[in-house]
Amino acid sequence: MTLDDLFSAAREAMAKTHSPYSKFPVGAAILTEDGRVFTGANIEVVSFPEGWCAETSALSHYVMGGGGRITDICVTAERLDECTPCGGCRQRLAEFAPPDARVHLTDQAGITKTMTMADLLPLGFKTEILST
Ligand code: THU
Repeated sequence: MTLDDLFSAAREAMAKTHSPYSKFPVGAAILTEDGRVFTGANIEVVSFPEGWCAETSALSHYVMGGGGRITDICVTAERLDECTPCGGCRQRLAEFAPPDARVHLTDQAGITKTMTMADLLPLGFKTEILST
């Protein structure tokens, strides 16, 4: 699985978007260290706050697929180059992806920018109290 393949997986997922209200298709692909890929698209609902992001769809597949160590995440959008995950998705991704996981942003042709999960969500909410 190359990063080009991960980009293609995110684009294929984006094609499955259900975004009739925003008309803003987004795709995401999560790669684990053992080579598995979990993808998702944004899904909207006529009661607008009930929709969810591509990253959240991909995380759902990742959890149901058994999880594992995340090494790379790719996010792509049809109408915005270098679309970054929203605030809520940053927190959701940080729940499962280690700080050194790479997050790749794209234009329409491929990956154009790479950062770490720690770069994407500095000072994210974290506490031991809730997990002990
Ligand atoms: N969206 C995502 O799926 N991921 C992001 O990182 C940003 C926004 C979706 C939510 C909504 O369906 C549409 O893009 C417009 O906000």
